[in-house]
Amino acid sequence: MPEIPGPEVQRPEAPGPGELRPETRAIRSGRADNQTALAPILWATSTFTAATVEEARALAADTHSSHFYTRYGNPTVRAFEAAVADLEGTEGARAFASGMGALSAVVLGLCSAGDHIVAQRQLYAGTRLLLQAVCPRFGMEVAFVDGTEPGAFERAVIPGRTVLVLAETPANPRLDLVDLAEIGAIRGPMTAVDSTFATPLAQRPADHGVDLVVHSATKTIAGHNDATIGVVAGAEELLEWLWGYAVLAGATASPFDAMNALRGLRTLAVRLRHQSAVALAIAEALAAHGAVEAVRYPGLPSHPQHDLARRQMEVFGGLVAFDLKGGYEAGRAFVEGVGVVQHATSLGGPESIVTHPASTTHAGLRPDELAEAGVGPATVRFSAGLEHPDDVVADVVAALDRISRADGAGHA
Ligand SMILES: Cc1ncc(COP(=O)(O)O)c(C=O)c1O
Repeated sequence: MPEIPGPEVQRPEAPGPGELRPETRAIRSGRADNQTALAPILWATSTFTAATVEEARALAADTHSSHFYTRYGNPTVRAFEAAVADLEGTEGARAFASGMGALSAVVLGLCSAGDHIVAQRQLYAGTRLLLQAVCPRFGMEVAFVDGTEPGAFERAVIPGRTVLVLAETPANPRLDLVDLAEIGAIRGPMTAVDSTFATPLAQRPADHGVDLVVHSATKTIAGHNDATIGVVAGAEELLEWLWGYAVLAGATASPFDAMNALRGLRTLAVRLRHQSAVALAIAEALAAHGAVEAVRYPGLPSHPQHDLARRQMEVFGGLVAFDLKGGYEAGRAFVEGVGVVQHATSLGGPESIVTHPASTTHAGLRPDELAEAGVGPATVRFSAGLEHPDDVVADVVAALDRISRADGAGHA
């Protein structure tokens, strides 16, 4: 067939995949095995056929085969892992059955009896319980430090004994920050950062030298409250240890959740931007209300680590923490009093959510541990959704006004 000459159009050179901005890569990543399908493909199978014994042997021996048996790996899960590694700027990633599955794999995959771990006091309560209840049973010792104190992690490291330094920033629920450059500069132990509240589009711990980046992708990454999945990004050499543990513990990710998480990544940039705007509007409304004792949002100049937030975060995220005046009853009245905003646990989804950590996420902690984590009886965690900011602010302010009227203080 003769070639039909096309119009003489000068097209700009298409950028290579590595040159694309993160928002664009979030939409395109994880498609290596996609053939001509535009959307992620769900490989719902638990197993794969092999033509010969030699082929089966090679698949079984592969440390991360995606076409052998789904507990070992799966093409949809692999696609999600590839996308996260691309966004975090790491060599690889491994997905797990939940955020706690990912954290368990980090801790139990890397540490053994006699090892020493340094972690911060301000942690998601599940991580705290893993470290203080499970680790000692296996002969591991954990030192908890104030993650906001400069140099605290480094000072707690015991040369030759500390195997792992584990940080979480912004930390659940009070949005305390840890200096990523400080964690990345620690030499000797392996370093891991739970970056769930930030997502790969708000901060990239590996750029600061951190070895492993952990996410509960259940939250903002999947972003629709319909997936339970965790992920760890880092160098392949370390990920092999995590994978070895998780395959035997059965903590690997389901393809369906991986597909939903991959779907979530494609809209992450717009969702995160919107949620950050809603969170800022809520933080400002809370700060101006007389029923509120204190507000914590990294994007507010009043946050004690606002300068650090500006240095290491692209956007400040959708989470706000605040303390109401009036103790437990005020906390209860508020979370039961909102209407547009839902009262539930979890975060990062389309619906704005309020959580009362003392009675839910952190209910397993003793009073002294709650105090260490900065959780009071009237602490509330707000997760911004995708609603119109004015509707969310009006709902929150109305619930606060009712509390003010009920306690007779009259401060609206
Ligand atoms: C910061 C953080 N890390 C880890 C987890 C655990 O994630 P998952 O519920 O997916 O196991 C959570 C859950 O709330 C969290 O907030």
